[in-house]
Amino acid sequence: MRYATLGEVPPKRHSQVWRSNGSRRLMVEEVLGYEGFSGNESILYHLHSPCRLADVGPFTPIAREEWVPDTHVHRLADTRPIAGGGDALTARRLLMFNADLEVWVAKPDAPMSAFYRNGEGDEVVYVHRGGGVLHSVFGSLPFRERDYVVIPRGTTHRWELDTDPARPEQHWLVFHTPGEIETPNRYRNRYGQLLEHAPYSQRDFHGPAELETIEDDGPHEVVVRVRGGHQAYTLDRHPFDVVGWDGYVYPYTFNAMDFEPRAGRFHLPPPAHQTFQGQNFVICTFAPRMLDWDETAVPLPYHHSNIQSEEVMFYADGDYAARKGVDVGCITLHPSGLPHGPQPGAVEKALGARHTDELAVMWDTFRPLRLTPLWREVDEPSYAYSWNPDRTAAPHA
Ligand SMILES: [Fe+2]
Repeated sequence: MRYATLGEVPPKRHSQVWRSNGSRRLMVEEVLGYEGFSGNESILYHLHSPCRLADVGPFTPIAREEWVPDTHVHRLADTRPIAGGGDALTARRLLMFNADLEVWVAKPDAPMSAFYRNGEGDEVVYVHRGGGVLHSVFGSLPFRERDYVVIPRGTTHRWELDTDPARPEQHWLVFHTPGEIETPNRYRNRYGQLLEHAPYSQRDFHGPAELETIEDDGPHEVVVRVRGGHQAYTLDRHPFDVVGWDGYVYPYTFNAMDFEPRAGRFHLPPPAHQTFQGQNFVICTFAPRMLDWDETAVPLPYHHSNIQSEEVMFYADGDYAARKGVDVGCITLHPSGLPHGPQPGAVEKALGARHTDELAVMWDTFRPLRLTPLWREVDEPSYAYSWNPDRTAAPHA
């Protein structure tokens, strides 16, 4: 991210900052940074020490139950029937995971009673449906449908959900990684600025809009994800007591419709759609776009065997021409070891098309993914046979 600042920061780091209300009390400076003191960082100025605790609550391990299917096949799941309910943290239901990535489906419908901080990973929330404001120690960050909301680890925050009765639904994909969420190296110059040919610019990334400095005695609950679980704490001060911050680490949004899609005379491969890079995975955005324009072009993906990755696609909007029977809200999993491509008839149907209105979010992991019982609940086993019009039965699990 680029350098940003909100509120009051002193002209020199690690120098005296006095509260402006004449109380002659020093502000508390906190450096929040990656890779020890060598990675990106921000510096925040608090009214009180962020270490201060009133009480230590319980530790609750995160259960990551695995469903091991009997068979290794291409899979389709529908996230629409997945039950919602709860706040932005408790509504999360784990769909798949490996050592580099967890993917949760969340349909929150309640305000958060506690603040949340992820102490062991970065998070990206793709907002399929819904909107609201992410309140954090860095300020308020509005979010809306089709936003990726990127939250660096260490960010104390709370989600406020839109209460528009006409659009009550929230339907999110939540990605957690112990690594970092970044824009791909190849989009940036040696100074970190996004290149002219990147599919987005710094203007498409939106940081916190307004600082929220709250002087409040509490008590306030904070839940921190650490050591594979959630540790609860009680604070006797509001955690949003920051009067100013600056640096390169803060939550931000990027809207999928701001991804400037690339097309070619002939078909371009998925890396043309890459949006983020992570530890052994990528996240890509297939945005509405012009299609391959040579008169002999096949404007759909060619069959491919991604022999070193698992490919997962969430269909977010429009009509994805390469897939039959896959609706908005569905997810396909094309695992390693198996080739995949357009279903029968899809290529012929697509010939001559010059535009697609599809919107899809894809994550490719370089190590195998494990599924959970939630996937089993919404699994569509006939998908494995969908390339064979003569075979529709599904005697596998
Ligand atoms: Fe693919």
